[in-house]
Amino acid sequence: MLKKIQVRDLRLGMYVQEICGSWMEHPFWKKSFDLTSEGDLRTLKTCGIRDVWIDTGKGLDVEGEAVVTAPEEEQHIEQELQLAVQNEPEPVQRVSLQQEILRARAALEQGKAAVVSMFGEVRMGNALKISDAGPLVDEISNSISRNPEAFLNLARLKNADNYTYLHSVAVCGLMIALGKQLGLSGSTLRSAGVAGLMHDVGKALIPDDVLNKPGKLTDEEFTVIKGHPRKGWEILNVSEGTNEIALDVCLHHHERVDGRGYPEKISGDELTLFARMGAVCDVYDALTSDRCYKKGWEPAEALRKMAEWRQGHFDERVFHAFVRAVGIYPTGTLVKLKSGHLAVVVEQTDKGLLTPIVKAFYSLKSNEPFTPQVVDLSQSQDAIANIEDPARWGFDLKQITGV
Ligand SMILES: [Fe+2]
Ligand SMILES: [Fe+2]
Repeated sequence: MLKKIQVRDLRLGMYVQEICGSWMEHPFWKKSFDLTSEGDLRTLKTCGIRDVWIDTGKGLDVEGEAVVTAPEEEQHIEQELQLAVQNEPEPVQRVSLQQEILRARAALEQGKAAVVSMFGEVRMGNALKISDAGPLVDEISNSISRNPEAFLNLARLKNADNYTYLHSVAVCGLMIALGKQLGLSGSTLRSAGVAGLMHDVGKALIPDDVLNKPGKLTDEEFTVIKGHPRKGWEILNVSEGTNEIALDVCLHHHERVDGRGYPEKISGDELTLFARMGAVCDVYDALTSDRCYKKGWEPAEALRKMAEWRQGHFDERVFHAFVRAVGIYPTGTLVKLKSGHLAVVVEQTDKGLLTPIVKAFYSLKSNEPFTPQVVDLSQSQDAIANIEDPARWGFDLKQITGV
């Protein structure tokens, strides 16, 4: 059987039927071959080719959950992602990442402390006061207006210990960024942010050994985890100054548009805009974060996967707005430029989603790093050729971006 797979899922023993892309793009003169040489495997994984066709009748099949892509589907996804480009965001008064980073870090720390204390109160059986979160959410909202990347990037970097707390703060920031993109403002936007901050408050009542279990969950444990939206709703429902949007997002952020989510399996008109926003922001942050059982995906990779799943899972318009909010090449993405340089995306601009500001730091022609150079692609002849997997290269992108 022929299967189209990504090159990173290739392994020795497979039979390569065809390499995707023009033959000029890769150094293999042979069309089909047994993949038996380590050298060939290394070359395939580093020559910039994304996909290959393998014949599982003549060699090994993919292992585990490797993604098999169909060409039509892939094309469709690219088109969908490009759709987002047609609607450029409103220009806002921005400051640079460097100018915003300290304020963003302070807002993030404040947010984390607020969630830690919120979980503590819930565990002690105390009632929450929802209005207490207002000033903090405004602070986060202001930081995102000045420069969204500063806050959203910092909030993405978490470890297994602080995941649950920082995830809540990250989803708050993403709800605000997405809400602004969708034209929300004032108290509605603030409520969307509060809803993000509180969406997983029910997890305060889930035992730690289940919540942070490194291995695979048993069916029973998964049922316990699936109880958190309803537990959260019950907590917020008796909280002082409770808010409809927060109640809704808390109960429905794991619902899907096709009705196959949980806990109520609702779909169609029953799912509000806020529940749809919550589902997209929640999945994006979970995918891009390091967890106790897996390494987080790169933001651009996560967006592509979500684009593949979005039918049935997410609301299409909300998903497109989300892509516009975080960028087709979100900050922190490693890219190869047409000039043959590797670069990391450091900032979005209002000039377009395809032309962010990048920091170039490595030449593929000489195979050597150079002193990093900031390039605004909207003002440059250079352009992004493709996304690269940083795990393949082993660079410390955090050090390069300075976040
Ligand atoms: Fe959740
Ligand atoms: Fe969540």
